Formats: sequence, structure tokens, C-alpha cells
Amino acid sequence: MPYPTPPRSVYLHIPFCHRRCYYCDFAVVPLGDQARGEQGPGSRSIREYLSLLHREIASAPSGPPLSTVYIGGGTPSLLCPDQIGALLDALADKFGLQPGAEITLEMDPATFNSSQLSSVLAHGVNRISLGGQSFDDAVLEQLGRRHRWSDLQAAIDWLMQAWRDGALRSWSLDLIQNLPGQALAGWDAQLDQAIASQAPHLSIYDLSVEPGTVFDRQRSLGVLKLPEDDLAVALMERTTQRLADAGLSRYEISNYASPGHASRHNRVYWSGAGWWGFGMGATSAPWGVRLVRPRTRAAYAAWLDNPPEESIAEVGLPLDDQLLVGLRRREGVNLQGLDADALVRRWQPFVERGWLKQKAGRWCLTDPEGMALSNQVLIEVILWWEEVLEDQSHSHQSI
Ligand SMILES: C[S@@+](CC[C@H](N)C(=O)[O-])C[C@H]1O[C@@H](n2cnc3c(N)ncnc32)[C@H](O)[C@@H]1O
Ligand code: SF4
Repeated sequence: MPYPTPPRSVYLHIPFCHRRCYYCDFAVVPLGDQARGEQGPGSRSIREYLSLLHREIASAPSGPPLSTVYIGGGTPSLLCPDQIGALLDALADKFGLQPGAEITLEMDPATFNSSQLSSVLAHGVNRISLGGQSFDDAVLEQLGRRHRWSDLQAAIDWLMQAWRDGALRSWSLDLIQNLPGQALAGWDAQLDQAIASQAPHLSIYDLSVEPGTVFDRQRSLGVLKLPEDDLAVALMERTTQRLADAGLSRYEISNYASPGHASRHNRVYWSGAGWWGFGMGATSAPWGVRLVRPRTRAAYAAWLDNPPEESIAEVGLPLDDQLLVGLRRREGVNLQGLDADALVRRWQPFVERGWLKQKAGRWCLTDPEGMALSNQVLIEVILWWEEVLEDQSHSHQSI
């Protein structure tokens, strides 16, 4: 089923960071401690990357005015506000921006001050996503972060001030849970501070140990002690309960918002609607079929010389992806009309364990148990889909 309307959302990737955090496998270019000096916004390396990004935006097919823009990274707050403004101008020239469009910028504590914040807001950014990760200095050290609690607190104060003044429409705080050595009491203290920050949106990610990261190496050496399943569920339960009590309801596995502050851009990814993506390592899916750009600058530059076409003739998200994105949402997925009995049989043990339920014809992960252990349910979708594809290829071979 092709998408009825062209995309109205854009993701822009800014890959620069001071250094790579121990858990992160995003497409990033670590600049070292000179990220604000010689290697900073005026450096050849950053200017050259931005000109590639401008080139990609200019050469995209045209489309209707945008309703959401997300500038992520990496650490986009390492750019100077004028560079952010120039990227927004390029998008406005290419597509136009709808009145009231949601324009989010990811910012890391210790990479900006209140006047830089005011400048990016003056350029049209109206939502900030702040990469806090933890309020505990020892944990920040363990994660390989460069900022400390005092930097995070200062950033929160500036954001709250801008929000109260009406210069900022909304903001979000990122934290990571399920960290090595994490206990319920310590996590409670983190939630106390998250709630006290008055952030109207929280993204609370479960740590994912990605291949090739420092955490991955520590795990293979047996020195990374992750919480057991029971503790993971208890942590998630505590998060959902305490945030609900504080007026932040969970609208997606990792996302909590007070009324009116759910991210419109995030919803685009999970709704199965299309989006444009520009920049090294960025994924786009303007017509439903995902296209991932190369993850290094040189390969991205070469790719731009000869980009594959993002064809509107393709179909929507493949069925397995539709189920994966659908299950992450609170409203779940509808299997009606699908030949999915084998999948339902695979899911049965999770229904018995209380992780998955059927509600008004839709299959949903229970909150918090199913959401906390969602990977085990999602993997069954992938295994089932591989079986379906294998069956299809056998039946084609035998024709
Ligand atoms: C695209 S990252 C970049 C944001 C920003 N540079 C920062 O670090 O604050 C967005 C968020 O993903 C989360 N994240 C990245 N890698 C993760 C991992 N391996 N496990 C869990 N969360 C992760 C972090 O909370 C991070 O703030
Ligand atoms: S978590 Fe953020 S700051 Fe750390 S390496 Fe990844 S993108 Fe950069």
C-alpha cells in the first residue's frame, strides 16, 4: 500500500561529538577537546560536512511544507546557531515549513550556554531534546560522558527559563535505565530528579549494549554486570508508576509526556508514515522503503555523487517492520486480515506470562512487564517473518 501523501517530516544528522560515549554506536565523528576550538564550528571538517548536507537537501525531490523537523546526532549543539539557522533556511526554501511546525534540536549539556540557546530559538527551533543520561556523576563517568551533574542542572535551568518565557514550546530529557550495577533505590533517586526538573517530556531508554562499543568489550570481559530480568521489570514498573503519578503518561516504549507534549516527530516514525532523512548515517523512508546512508564522511560524500533513487513506486513498510513499529506503541497492532496464526502461536507463551494481551482486536505489550521485556516478543516477529519468507521462496521454487 503506497503512502497516500508525501512526507512532511525531516531528520537531519549532525555527526560531530567531543568523544564517543561507551555505549553509543551512532554514526559520529569524535572531535576531541578541540570541538569548541580549532576543530569546532569554523573548522574545515565541519564546514565541508555542512556543505554536503546542504547539497543533499537541495537535490532532494520537492514535497509539501514540513510539519516536523528533527536535528539529531551526534551533538548538533556543537554547531554555532547560525549554522543551525542556515540548515532550517535550506529546508524552508526546499519544502517550506508549516505554521506551527515542530522543530527539535538535540543538545548536550556542557556544549551550550543560555545565550546560545536563545540564538537557536531565535532561528526557529522550538523544541529541545537534552541528553542528560544520568544525574549521578559516578554514572556519567561510567558511561564515558563528558558532562557532569552541574552542567545538566544548568542546562535544565536555562530550558525551564526559556519555556516559562514562552521562547521554547517544549523540551525533553533523555535518561538511560538498566545500567550496570543499577539498583532500585538509586534509580528512584534519578526519577526524583527527573520529575523535579519539570521536563514535560522524558525519553527513558533501556541500555542496549551495541557491538563494537566499550560496553560490548567490557561485557565480553565479564566486567559489565547488567540487571537481571526481574530487576529490569521492577525498574520499568517503578518508572511508569512514578511518572504516571507525576502526570507524564507513557505513549511509547521509551517515551513519556505530559498532556500536549508527545513528540509529533517521534509519532511519524512509529505510525509508519514516511519521512525525509539527510546526512551521514541518516535513514530516510519518504515512501515507506527505508534507505540508510553510509556511516562515514568519505563514503557519504561518494554516495551523494550517485545516490539511489527513492522511488514512490515502492510499497509501504514491509509487514515485519509494520508489526515491530506498531508493537512499540501503546495502541499496539491489528492482525486482522493477516495470515498470522503461526505468529499468534509463537506469542502464546508471552500471553501466558502476561507480557502480551489482546484488547479490542489489537495486540499490545502489557505495561510495564511486556514493554520491559519487549525484545523477546519482537524477536518472535522476526523469526516468524523469516519462516514466512522461507515458505514463500520454497513455494516459488516448486512452481
Ligand atoms: C542520538 S543520541 C544523541 C543525543 C546526544 N548526543 C546525547 O548524547 O545527549 C539520543 C539518545 O539515545 C540514547 N542512546 C544512545 N545510545 C544508546 C544505547 N546504546 N542504549 C540506550 N540509549 C542510548 C541516549 O539517551 C541519547 O541521549
Ligand atoms: S551518546 Fe550522544 S554524545 Fe555520546 S557519542 Fe553518542 S551521539 Fe555523541
